Amino acid sequence: MDARYEPKILALICTYCTYTAADMAGSLRLQYPPNVRVVKLLCTGKVDVLHLLAAFKAGADAVMVSGCEIGDCHFLEGNLRAKERVAHAKELIAEIGLEPERLEMFHIGASDAPQWAKAVEMMTRRARELGPSPLRKSEAAAMPAEGVAA
Ligand code: FES
Repeated sequence: MDARYEPKILALICTYCTYTAADMAGSLRLQYPPNVRVVKLLCTGKVDVLHLLAAFKAGADAVMVSGCEIGDCHFLEGNLRAKERVAHAKELIAEIGLEPERLEMFHIGASDAPQWAKAVEMMTRRARELGPSPLRKSEAAAMPAEGVAA
């Protein structure tokens, strides 16, 4: 594996819970890997299977979805729908040869900043162990070398 490999992790997170936890983690100066890029959503119920597949197609090495704890979704069942969609997307990515462990659902409450830091650490460690996404590698292989005229 390329020693310079740094996983790219996309996190789709709910503004009412996990985003608040992530914000608090920053305020508390909790340390966690800088590999994650966050997209804030009104509710994880907005996450569609196509969004998850598109993230991998765009080169994400891992994707995490994190919503309110079970029973706490502000839109009643958005987090449960997200959980089902993540499970379905795991099956789909396995069919195309990606490790389903590259995708994970979390439920992290607004006051649980340490849990957010742990979740990011876990996904970063997992993505390091799995290595670069094959989709990312093929994307890199398809790109012309720097300085080479097309
Ligand atoms: Fe947070 Fe639905 S409002 S997951």
